Amino acid sequence: MEQTLVLIKPDAVERNLIGKILSEYERNGLKIAEMQLLTASKTIAAAHYAEHEGKPFYNELINYITGGPLVAFVLEGENVIQRVRALNGATDPKDAEDNTIRALYGIDLSNNTVHASDSAESAKKEISIWF
Ligand code: CMP
Repeated sequence: MEQTLVLIKPDAVERNLIGKILSEYERNGLKIAEMQLLTASKTIAAAHYAEHEGKPFYNELINYITGGPLVAFVLEGENVIQRVRALNGATDPKDAEDNTIRALYGIDLSNNTVHASDSAESAKKEISIWF
């Protein structure tokens, strides 16, 4: 069964949105395989966002993702990577399709509420970083 790594990011945990966001995935038939609430270390954050190192928003991204508790979990199901990306919507909440998680709850590009792996390769890498 395909797996993907999802983060409910600090902006969403801060606003008590964990339950609402999890229910979006669960009501779409996806199963939670592993889960933890934690504040990410700089080491984990740097490993997770290694591909963005050197970009203008990198420091802001690392400070944000380590700035408060988040929920990291593994979802599994058929075609889960694509399905979760569709449920999340576009990276920037202002571009996210109606009724997607980022359209409903996202604030801006930094505070975009959720992260999910974008490919089978990144899912494998990201799951090994967080679990
Ligand atoms: P995420 O799916 O977690 O993957 C990388 C994150 O970087 C992305 O969501 C956004 O939150 C953030 N991001 C991408 N582009 C920018 C940008 N131009 N400015 C600030 N943050 C960005």
